[in-house]
Amino acid sequence: MTTSNLPTTIRTLIQPDPKSEHIILTTIPLPIQAPNTTEHLLRVHAVAITNNELTWPANFPASRPIPYSDTQALVPLYDVAGTIVTAPEDSPFKAGDEVWALGVEAGEMKWAEAATVPMSAQTAWQALFVHGGLKAEAGVGGKGKRVFVTAASGAVGSWVVQLAVWSGAEVVGTASAANAEFVKSLGVTEVLDYRSADVKAWAEEEGVKADLVIDCIGGKSLEEAWWVVKEGGTLISVFQPPVQKKPERLEGKKVRNEFFVMEPDGEQLGEVTRLVDEGRFVPVLDSVWPLEKFEEAFAKAESGKTRGKVVFELYV
Ligand SMILES: NC(=O)c1ccc[n+]([C@@H]2O[C@H](COP(=O)([O-])OP(=O)(O)OC[C@H]3O[C@@H](n4cnc5c(N)ncnc54)[C@H](OP(=O)(O)O)[C@@H]3O)[C@@H](O)[C@H]2O)c1
Repeated sequence: MTTSNLPTTIRTLIQPDPKSEHIILTTIPLPIQAPNTTEHLLRVHAVAITNNELTWPANFPASRPIPYSDTQALVPLYDVAGTIVTAPEDSPFKAGDEVWALGVEAGEMKWAEAATVPMSAQTAWQALFVHGGLKAEAGVGGKGKRVFVTAASGAVGSWVVQLAVWSGAEVVGTASAANAEFVKSLGVTEVLDYRSADVKAWAEEEGVKADLVIDCIGGKSLEEAWWVVKEGGTLISVFQPPVQKKPERLEGKKVRNEFFVMEPDGEQLGEVTRLVDEGRFVPVLDSVWPLEKFEEAFAKAESGKTRGKVVFELYV
């Protein structure tokens, strides 16, 4: 598409008040790439919902990758795949390049699959290799380490599993019975059904405790994760600060623990793209929706009953 045949308006979802989770589908004038900035104009083919993302503006107002003011209307959906329409002169991208998350070229995936990757894969990458202490090296970066993942069937969890296995770690995790075979297919060696398992009792068994625990769900699961992590080990949550769920009885347990907000990084995304293109990783796509069905799609994503990402495909 050249700039001369661009539409004058676009359809978009808007979160009018950052403090409210309410969103609307509306039509706005086509955004124009501001001159002398790093802005790119992108023809969007697919976008993905991240569970809970509509709560982030209220909960993490100062955090990257979503800096905004209290009153500014926001466009939700941080995962995006599309084609560059216009780019600044010094950009590594040019008109016609196919990209995801404006980080790297999208490789060989279909649009809906491509939109599932950036947020979840980078969050998992940073949980393991930036905050979790493993090295991002195939077969050796996690060798000898045991990793426990909560919500291993979720969008972030399924990437944590795949990347940890790729690095050579032994990976165990929680999922419902319905998703047990799926997470095993990703490389998990033991799956606990979070609905019925006594995680605390299991953690007392010989050789079960983990060097690194990555929690993707928070709440009760995070509380149980404190029993699973080894003394002196590391506990990372992408949902809430782990100390908020530290059991009283484990008050003296020494564990490095951390919550973080993912920071976009083109190099990491480039590495993930390479691995996906080599066929080593599976993008996990729960379902594809038209934009008009945004209320149903968000309800599905927020149900906590998804296997991977809920995606909007835009037939533009
Ligand atoms: N900090 C950051 O930068 C960052 C970045 C991205 C996402 N996040 C947050 O990370 C969290 C996870 O996101 P996500 O997209 O991975 O979630 P998700 O895909 O929506 O998670 C759904 C999955 O979780 C499983 N599940 C639900 N409750 C569970 C439990 N108690 N124990 C184990 N598994 C359970 C479900 O399995 P069943 O259907 O089988 O029950 C389903 O497969 C969200 O809160 C999101 O906002 C944070």
